Amino acid sequence: MTSETGSFVKEHATQAAIATPSPGISGFSDDPPPINPRNLVWVALAFLVLAVAIAIDDVWLLNFIHVMAGVLWTGIDLFMGFVIGPIMRRSPVAVRRAMVLRLMPKTLFLLPTLAIITGTAGWFHARQIGLLDVPYPAYWWVFAALTIVTVLTVQGFAVLLPANLLVYFEMRKSAPDGARIGRLMRRYVYAVAFQGLMQVAIIVVMARFVTGL
Ligand code: HEM
Repeated sequence: MTSETGSFVKEHATQAAIATPSPGISGFSDDPPPINPRNLVWVALAFLVLAVAIAIDDVWLLNFIHVMAGVLWTGIDLFMGFVIGPIMRRSPVAVRRAMVLRLMPKTLFLLPTLAIITGTAGWFHARQIGLLDVPYPAYWWVFAALTIVTVLTVQGFAVLLPANLLVYFEMRKSAPDGARIGRLMRRYVYAVAFQGLMQVAIIVVMARFVTGL
């Protein structure tokens, strides 16, 4: 789901009677897989690697995990918002529904995991290299990073995740309530736009960390 999906859902709202999407696309079967709890195994594995990196206190490994998770989180968010979103907006309703119903069960596991790993690894890596002990005014940069990542994570869990789930379950219904999806998506779109801005802001702070406070 993306920032562009607001308009697609608005449009979707007017076409709410998509009980079962048209089988007009040859070979297209709208039988999306359900949310698979087995993905939690991958989530647990990722947290295990993070826990090991923290426990052995390896600077390189923690830096790698932090940067990798951070660029994936930011990159996927921006890609979804500015590439997948516009593509979906211009696609037939049945295709959009099919995409959402397949994307959501993946992003549901992927994005919260990346968010938690980025913030946690960032905190421990900052501690390792002494960034948490720098004096003010340099510490304001650290304060900015911690504030932004907290806002991003809380908003992700309190706004984006529930909105994603509600839209997903509504779309799975045989007769989705387009108006409800539209309402949910409008709230969602503002949150995603704000997340995009914050994601870019934190990369500015990160570049500052790397070039020296
Ligand atoms: C959305 C959240 C975050 C993202 C996407 C992110 C991303 C990045 C990236 C891409 C780098 C490498 C920068 C470069 O090489 O130019 C980096 C480095 C770093 N980040 Fe973050 N980061 C995030 C949050 C945090 C937080 C909350 C902290 C903790 C205060 C933190 C601490 C660090 C540290 C210590 C480095 C390495 C600095 C150095 O090597 O001198 N990051 N981060």
